[in-house]
Amino acid sequence: MQKIILTGDRPTGKLHLGHYVGSLKNRVKLQDSNEFDEVYLMIADSQALTDNFDNPQKIRDNVLEVALFYLACGIDPKKTTIFIQSQVPALTELTFYYMNLVTVARLMRNPTVKSEIKLRGFEESIPSGFLNYPVSQTADITAFDATLVPVGEDQLPMLEQAKEIVHSFNRIYGETLVEPNSYLPENALARRLPSIDGKNKMSKSLGNCIYLDDSDEEISKKVMQMYTDPNHIKVSDPGKVEGNVVFTYLDIFSTPEDFQKYLPEYHNLDELKEHYAQGGLGDVVIKKFLIKVLIDVIKPIRERKEELIKNIDYVYKVLEDGVKKANEKANKTLKRVKSAMKIDYFDDNKFLEEIKNKFN
Ligand code: TRP
Repeated sequence: MQKIILTGDRPTGKLHLGHYVGSLKNRVKLQDSNEFDEVYLMIADSQALTDNFDNPQKIRDNVLEVALFYLACGIDPKKTTIFIQSQVPALTELTFYYMNLVTVARLMRNPTVKSEIKLRGFEESIPSGFLNYPVSQTADITAFDATLVPVGEDQLPMLEQAKEIVHSFNRIYGETLVEPNSYLPENALARRLPSIDGKNKMSKSLGNCIYLDDSDEEISKKVMQMYTDPNHIKVSDPGKVEGNVVFTYLDIFSTPEDFQKYLPEYHNLDELKEHYAQGGLGDVVIKKFLIKVLIDVIKPIRERKEELIKNIDYVYKVLEDGVKKANEKANKTLKRVKSAMKIDYFDDNKFLEEIKNKFN
């Protein structure tokens, strides 16, 4: 069996460090591993419209933004097909047929849908398109015969739902769809990068994140505002490392080389943590270190993005080519699905013969 990856993001805003450690970095690694026959990366504009249908301009603007971040982070269009969901009609068609295979009660029980309904205040009136987005996500995954879906933890219920729909489809209409598996980032910490206030997950809507194109000044300002240990008032006070956002970030982003380069008084993060816990190490020292570490991550991405903006025709072409390839693939699956469901009337002469025999 072929090994195929599909994953995607909703184009609702700029991509931030949470996206980078939670998925983008991983995707580049998987793409470059050359272990996969096909890799697809989808800008999920149709899905984004399920709860932004009244703000189409926002989605339109962010389609390009997301594409720029993908390329700037090292997604290579020669290895990964980048495409826009709404431009692949087969996905919408598949969604309609899969809707027969899932109950409203089951969709309402989906933990991700449940929490999003609450977050958006949809309790009183849930748009049916929104309630169905897990079904549409199943269409995305199965249209590309994806065997592996690299996602964040919050997407696991979507994968469960997808597997259930695949099983129902194959049971009722015969073996047609490929069963997908989820793939989480290896680094457990990276799965949930806290926001700079330490209160929430990084979220575009809460304005508490560090973006992948932030300037050095913005990075500095945000790190200086980071939540540390509220009881660590004087430098001599012992400080808490757990729940201290600066240390959570250092855990994820700092390397031994960073210590050599920027903080040679310490060999590694453990030594730094020990000193902080004992007392005698100020927040400014650890924050200044983190600023340098993060600038090293973000600056190359920001600069590549600026280069790409100067070459926007190229980016446009990448999307256009990606959509073409995605349609070829998804149309093949749709054909298989329609034939399994006996709605392939004009695909061969079988139907014509059937109806002729009927009236002979
Ligand atoms: N739901 C995903 C998100 O909110 C985006 C997405 C849409 C997706 N379709 C997908 C992810 C298919 C993986 C596979 O980020």
